[in-house]
Amino acid sequence: MHRLQGKNAIVFGGAQGIGRAIVAAFVAEGATVYASDVKPIERGQETAEQLVEALVDATDPAQVAGYVTGVLAVAGTIDILVNNVGIHLPKSVIDAEPEDFDRIFTVNVKTAYLACRAVVPHMLERRRGSIINLSSNGGLIGRPSDPLYNASKHAVIGLTKSMAVAYADQGLRINAVCPGAVDTAMLRGTISDPAEYEQRIPALVASTPAARVAQASEVAAAVVFLASDESPAINGIAMAIDGAKSAGVMSSDRYRLDFDLNTSYD
Ligand SMILES: NC(=O)c1ccc[n+]([C@@H]2O[C@H](COP(=O)([O-])OP(=O)(O)OC[C@H]3O[C@@H](n4cnc5c(N)ncnc54)[C@H](O)[C@@H]3O)[C@@H](O)[C@H]2O)c1
Repeated sequence: MHRLQGKNAIVFGGAQGIGRAIVAAFVAEGATVYASDVKPIERGQETAEQLVEALVDATDPAQVAGYVTGVLAVAGTIDILVNNVGIHLPKSVIDAEPEDFDRIFTVNVKTAYLACRAVVPHMLERRRGSIINLSSNGGLIGRPSDPLYNASKHAVIGLTKSMAVAYADQGLRINAVCPGAVDTAMLRGTISDPAEYEQRIPALVASTPAARVAQASEVAAAVVFLASDESPAINGIAMAIDGAKSAGVMSSDRYRLDFDLNTSYD
């Protein structure tokens, strides 16, 4: 299927993990993707026409504005914007420094604001466009281990919903996706010791009703749907992609600490 045929997409934070999976899925669906990151983006199956990569620090207002202007000059139009840039912070409120707070809100929230600020005027002119912001299921519920990260992801949902209400009558759709645990460098990075990671995964799985960790491609599939013309009535949502983890509390006998790690990736 080519559900994004003829569309131009910008993806901020496209070098690895969920962002890279979104880039690959967009290209597979026929889009031309302009992807940027602070890290170099490796081209895989994509041709130079399908994927145009750039180095952009999405926290820098001048770089973001200049980049969007440059893409518009080359592409002519921008149909889709994905704000995927994010960092994690597994620190309690007591342990986190004020600088940590500023940093996580800058990287996780300000980047989405800056990109929207640069792209939305163009989308309003065309009276069409789909924006997808990466929140988290931590943006839907409280969690003790990473409160500032969670607060930043709640803020992403607030930005998403407010913008959706502001621009829905002018042809724009602005949605958020809220993944649970996804097997990426970010998830692995929260646990420095690889052996400890393998031990912690069963605990993550055990606390998820679906008893599995998701793959980046599964998040990308939802982002493709929201970016495409198949979801015209979907606007201002925060879509949980978390195996029902944010849907409620499981009964205690459902916690599966004996879970077999090898079957969790099926
Ligand atoms: N992995 C998970 O379990 C999970 C769960 C919920 C939400 N998320 C969210 O999904 C998004 C992607 O997560 P991931 O797991 O793929 O993480 P990741 O760390 O693998 O990828 C994040 C990307 O953002 C880029 N980035 C960081 N700072 C940047 C900056 N200033 N400018 C441009 N790019 C920058 C990184 O270089 C990296 O390529 C994040 O917003 C994250 O918070 C991830």
